[in-house]
Amino acid sequence: MTDWHPLLLTHWYAAARSDEVRSTPVAVTLLDTHVALARTGTGTLIALEDRCPHRHAPLSAGCVNGERLACPYHGWSFDADGRLCEVPGLPSDAALPNIRVRRFATCELDGFIWLRPGATGAERPHAMIRATDPNTRRFLWRTRWSANVVDAMENFLDPLHTHFIHAGLVRRDAARVAATACFRPSGEGFSVDYQGMPSQSGLLYRLFESERTAERAHFAAPGSARLEYAYANGSRVLIDLHFTPRTAEETDVSITLHVEGRWAPAWAVRLLAWPLLKRVNDQDMAMLRLQARNRRRFGERKGASTTLDIVRGTLEHFWTHGVLPPAATARDIPMML
Ligand code: FES
Ligand SMILES: [Fe+2]
Repeated sequence: MTDWHPLLLTHWYAAARSDEVRSTPVAVTLLDTHVALARTGTGTLIALEDRCPHRHAPLSAGCVNGERLACPYHGWSFDADGRLCEVPGLPSDAALPNIRVRRFATCELDGFIWLRPGATGAERPHAMIRATDPNTRRFLWRTRWSANVVDAMENFLDPLHTHFIHAGLVRRDAARVAATACFRPSGEGFSVDYQGMPSQSGLLYRLFESERTAERAHFAAPGSARLEYAYANGSRVLIDLHFTPRTAEETDVSITLHVEGRWAPAWAVRLLAWPLLKRVNDQDMAMLRLQARNRRRFGERKGASTTLDIVRGTLEHFWTHGVLPPAATARDIPMML
């Protein structure tokens, strides 16, 4: 039973890290859809509804046998198309019933396995993720936030909480400068260009960055958000978060950090940058948990907004109606950042 708009099921979502899916099946849930994911010996991905059609045991508790996924209860096995291939104990001359488990379309991109919950829809994930150069990846991580997907995405794309939740680390309230946020709708979602901030007032900037030539946030429907930083020496850093709602109250977040043309060996990112980025993540997670708890206490209610709340409208519209708002217009918003 789900309340997701049917159009949301026609999109692709990051479902797991590629390296987590091997011959031992894993159970994933996205948009209240439960899937057993596994990889056969030849590397074929199997993505089947996590429910055996016989007595409804979870297929994710089964095992891969050759090119098939076998149910743990009575051993029925299914191929990657979901077709029933074997019923142990049935005499070899008996006909197999014509039974299929629902299968899901999958693909692998940028270190993650992507899955489309609906039987029909987009052929492939959106262009933003397809265009990322896999050779620049330095870090990849998956985490889970106790938050609705809209609250989670708004948090990542909103700079105005950083002075408080990440005080000193990302920005400082006492060191604001005048900036302009240029909101531009795009075919896949929108981008927001932050102008007037070649530097940033927090520790992260001082430790790892140099003069910026651009700072841009992107949203690509359904669930991808990117922070892009370009530097005077031509280098670039991309932080991509792909949001996959499990349920209305829980969202999986698949994160990559791409570094292009900057000194950033994997060990240094892991040792120096990652603990601080993880701290930022933990701070956001804690606030989102409090926010979700309060939403439950008071019941779902619309919040008040100002011109500073740039992304909320588009995100809310998309996740409610399954399409981007038709009338989004470009606008430039002055703010103190
Ligand atoms: S429940 Fe799966 S084989 Fe019986
Ligand atoms: Fe944050």
